[in-house]
Amino acid sequence: MTVKSTKNAEVKNRKEAATPRGQGTLCSIYAARAENAQLWDIEGRRFIDFVGGVAVLNTGHRHPKILAAIREQLDRFTHTCYGIVPYPSYVELAEKINHRAPGNFPKKTAFFTTGVEAVENAIKIARVATGRLGVIAFANGFHGRSLFGTALTGMVAPHKLGLGAFPPGVFHAPYPNPLHGVSTADSLRAIEFLFKADIDPKCVAAIIMEPVQGDGGFYVAPSDFVRGLRKICDDHGILLIADEVQTGFARTGKLFAMQHHDVIPDLTTTGKSLAGGMPLSGVVGSAEIMDALAPGGLGGTFAGNPLAIAAAHAVLDIIDEECLCERATSLGERLKAKLTAVGEHVPEIAEVRGLGGMIAVEFCEPSTREPDAELARSVIARALERGLLLLYAGVDRNVIRFLFPLTIEDAVFDEALGILDEVFKESVGSTA
Ligand SMILES: Cc1ncc(COP(=O)(O)O)c(C=O)c1O
Repeated sequence: MTVKSTKNAEVKNRKEAATPRGQGTLCSIYAARAENAQLWDIEGRRFIDFVGGVAVLNTGHRHPKILAAIREQLDRFTHTCYGIVPYPSYVELAEKINHRAPGNFPKKTAFFTTGVEAVENAIKIARVATGRLGVIAFANGFHGRSLFGTALTGMVAPHKLGLGAFPPGVFHAPYPNPLHGVSTADSLRAIEFLFKADIDPKCVAAIIMEPVQGDGGFYVAPSDFVRGLRKICDDHGILLIADEVQTGFARTGKLFAMQHHDVIPDLTTTGKSLAGGMPLSGVVGSAEIMDALAPGGLGGTFAGNPLAIAAAHAVLDIIDEECLCERATSLGERLKAKLTAVGEHVPEIAEVRGLGGMIAVEFCEPSTREPDAELARSVIARALERGLLLLYAGVDRNVIRFLFPLTIEDAVFDEALGILDEVFKESVGSTA
């Protein structure tokens, strides 16, 4: 492929003419190459990548073991469609995920391509397994951009704008959020309220939750909330789906974030970092539930693509060999300490929170506690100018989430913390 443009501004103009505005981009630099936690644009500028393709690169850009696994597969075959001519590597990856996902019972895994496909299929499985239609999701939750994924998503702007009515059977309850006055008891009570006002619990197939809300702002589910959900599900024969598309594969300091709690979900959705930059997602759950759909009910042309499966085998090895769960925890602690120290001088920092290496900082106007999206925007813009890629989150976009590769070199991580320091000083004019 020949890349004709060498200037970001020129490609931006062509992009605006050639692609719809709905496909927004965070920044107007265009990628040329990348290596672990660093990325270079087409003008040769270097950036430290604290976004990781939105939680996809826990193992960094172009990890040599992932490249080797893909190359090895590339030389054998790239596609057969697993539903037509299957291959052992798919089965072997399913065995590994079954073994490592929470729950000491027989499990099965099906692979798909994107996170939202995993979510859609988890709902299909739950509906067929229970013979029920209803699904309860949470405000601020994000589950993807397909029509049903959008229905499950608990954010109107920008996801639901202009789409009108959604498929029936989806209800939202508030997710615990102490910063904004929502306790675990409030959330659990709201579900009981839904059972009185909107839907008979016997008609609810599943409750779907993120153990840490991703796009919604990195709010961490308290253990008593997760236990409360499990109890509601058990009391009413409802399946608990943990959407671990963003939290999975070492990001929170465990392979799966639900391993922080003594609660086992019935189904878990995975994606993003599962295959180190290749498109792969999955649903894992109890064998009995996973078998609900008839042959042909699951799959897809590209589902479980062999190159992505090969990459995922390498990802699991790298997580173990490079102790990425431990690394997530230690890097997360360093970042939290830095942001907390900065927060002592920046009253607009309302909260620094997170789990393991899934860290966020939230900005609010100090006196009113109103979301301060402008400050988040300014920090992201100034960081970009200084060569650090950051990403917003939260329904009000007043949160910055940090999703650095867990394989990041110490020196590059320290450099990024230094940039953050400077950016905060500039953005709020304080001596952070
Ligand atoms: C928790 C969660 N579920 C589902 C999705 C959808 O994944 P994808 O964009 O790969 O379809 C995302 C993406 O951000 C996510 O964070």
